[in-house]
Amino acid sequence: MKGVVLAGGLGSRLYPLTKITNKHLLPVWNKPMIYYPIQCLVNAGINDILIVTGGNSAGHFLQLLRNGSDFGLRRISYAYQEGEGGIADALKLAEHFAEGDSICVVLGDNIIEGNIKRAVDDFKKQGGGAKIMLKEVHDPERFGVATVKDGKVVKIVEKPKAPETNLAVIGIYLYDPSVFDVCKTLKPSNRGELEITDVNNEYVRRGNLTADVLQGWWTDAGTFESLYRAATLIKDGGANRMDL
Ligand code: DAU
Repeated sequence: MKGVVLAGGLGSRLYPLTKITNKHLLPVWNKPMIYYPIQCLVNAGINDILIVTGGNSAGHFLQLLRNGSDFGLRRISYAYQEGEGGIADALKLAEHFAEGDSICVVLGDNIIEGNIKRAVDDFKKQGGGAKIMLKEVHDPERFGVATVKDGKVVKIVEKPKAPETNLAVIGIYLYDPSVFDVCKTLKPSNRGELEITDVNNEYVRRGNLTADVLQGWWTDAGTFESLYRAATLIKDGGANRMDL
């Protein structure tokens, strides 16, 4: 199992903070944002990681993360996304890195309190397909929202105006190697992006998507509100705790 952190995009919801630097280099309490998704993968036992980034300050990731030894990584690799074609567009760049292995993808602005080791171990036994993680939220219209029937996800809608449930799909995804073929079939959405929700819905259609409810808090950090919330949650309780 290899890890992929997606840290491209323009971060336009955080202008002017992101006018001259990349969103994932901004501080979240006492660390740069990108540290949290990397540590999340490391805590799950994944030590071969690709960082996909883009934009003007892309070179700063190399300066900051260097050879990954601060995290005990076996290998750290970098890829550059041209433009802002969406999460699934950024994921396409991981195909050669994956070399036919399964991958755990973490969005660079997603931070969790606990760890995903059990989900990763369960996915390894699943025999292919995909696994997503869900969390109850009070503002589901900001996220991909899952409808669950008899314990199975039956559909996911990206940022619905009238959400059917309050189950957000968090930005941590486990995929078998066929994910790259799925990415190649996608068409841009109304917001002009290749959507990760379309990828996940393809696995729903195939009948091999499983879902776990995440323990502990989860937040993104891509808006002023959520960036502030993330810093407060980390200050008060810590992120990526091994005991959760
Ligand atoms: O935070 C979880 C949510 O993330 C999910 O519930 C949604 O289904 C999913 O679409 C996504 O929603 P957002 O609209 O909040 O994603 P955002 O555009 O903020 O991108 C999240 C991260 O993905 C970002 O921090 C870096 C990476 N990304 C994004 C884009 C658009 C890229 O690497 N390249 C891109 O082109």
